Amino acid sequence: MMYIGISSGFHDAGVSVVADTGKLLFAAHSERYSKKKHDANLCAGIVKEAMSYVISSNYEVHYYEKPWLKAIRQFRAGQPIGPLSVKQIIGPELAEMLGDKPIKTHVHHKTHAAAGFQTSPFEDATVVVIDAIGEMDCISIWDARYDKRGKAVYKKLWSKKYPNSIGMFYSAMTQRVGLRPMDEEYILMGMAAYGKPKYANRMASVFLDDIFDIEFKQNLHIGLEENNFLDKADDMDIAASAQLLCETLIEKVMLKAFRLGSSKNLVYGGGVALNCLANRLLGKYFSNIWIMPNPGDAGNSLGAAALGYGGKIEWQDAFLGTNIKGPYPVKEVIKELTKKKMVGVASGRAEFGPRALGNRSLLADPRGPEIKDKVNEIKRRQKFRPFAPIILEEYVHEYFDMPRGWNDSRYMQVIATCRHPDLYPAIVHHDGTSRVQTVPKDGSGIRQLLEAWYKETGCPMLLNTSLNIRGEPMVNDRSDADRFEKLYKLKVVS
Ligand SMILES: [Fe+2]
Repeated sequence: MMYIGISSGFHDAGVSVVADTGKLLFAAHSERYSKKKHDANLCAGIVKEAMSYVISSNYEVHYYEKPWLKAIRQFRAGQPIGPLSVKQIIGPELAEMLGDKPIKTHVHHKTHAAAGFQTSPFEDATVVVIDAIGEMDCISIWDARYDKRGKAVYKKLWSKKYPNSIGMFYSAMTQRVGLRPMDEEYILMGMAAYGKPKYANRMASVFLDDIFDIEFKQNLHIGLEENNFLDKADDMDIAASAQLLCETLIEKVMLKAFRLGSSKNLVYGGGVALNCLANRLLGKYFSNIWIMPNPGDAGNSLGAAALGYGGKIEWQDAFLGTNIKGPYPVKEVIKELTKKKMVGVASGRAEFGPRALGNRSLLADPRGPEIKDKVNEIKRRQKFRPFAPIILEEYVHEYFDMPRGWNDSRYMQVIATCRHPDLYPAIVHHDGTSRVQTVPKDGSGIRQLLEAWYKETGCPMLLNTSLNIRGEPMVNDRSDADRFEKLYKLKVVS
């Protein structure tokens, strides 16, 4: 038996394939194939590639939420009701490509929980899910453990239903400052360092009835009402205030999880788990933390497949998508870097998740003050945003002060204070922190590259940003890499 998991229809569609041994064969985002950022729908390209890993006709298809349950919420909220069957959602062509099988559905927050717990190194955990919205739940806390047969068992301990949503609050604030909600929340997070949280108390009193129990007064699903107390507020102050209130609410949930759960292990999922600034606080309540590198809805395709499989998934790394075959181009990258040039890498399997972790990356020497502007000539992003460092894991404590509970950060999931901000200004934010990626001794291509770079220069880290054409998702295959080379006249090695 094999298990195909799909998420599609809202935002960030994805497909995952799990073998009956628990081996994770394939996991990817639809956007990398359709070239539409955050593509809500599956496309033929991703389904075709996923099906190439399904070598038996004995397989099941699992979907990441329950359409009828979502329809009840939409009906109650007076919203248009979506399709009630998965086949309607994905369309007859893709249903046929998936073998026209009956498609099993799972509760949205449970697929988030499964995507996290069944890929984690833990035998038991307290699972916290915080996103914008699933069917009904916007926040949930679970006890998760394996039974004697190795099957994952989930018990819901607490939940908060629509419209009491931390994710929707943060998205409404994202929209308020002129950014795209459900997309550019990470920019709002970056802006927070430049503002003062002077509206946080007012936001709490206007939006919330009960801050301890996360009861909202207003439904922020459709954004803020016009003519409100933030009309004349500075965008940076709104960002700082939204971040502070968001962190306060997350802390309330984590405290609740700590009290209700019985495990010292935290598994955290849902789109809000991408807030790497807030994630520095998680170690206050839990000794061990696992966030699957793709905790948002595309990651739920893996959760759906995991629920179908039932047991622990054999997790190695996040390199699970399209394969650009061949050895990692260590020598070629070093050659470019030592000429003080930026260089793109498109090698091996694409990352599952929103971060470039070394296989679809634009890399540069992080030392000195000029490099940030040079990389920005390509990326053209807001000048206030820094780039991220990627570092040999054994040196991370020499260069960064890691937050409590975080000894590593293999998927860029937490910020850490840089110990030498003057030496590496391109990778340090206004508040002195960096979104660090640590690379363990795992023999991966990016590990070999960092080791070679360290040998050459004595510097154990590189500047790492995603390899993408502006406005497009990350490069997926070699033809995307060729387009990038042509457009920016910058070498992409494979
Ligand atoms: Fe979700």
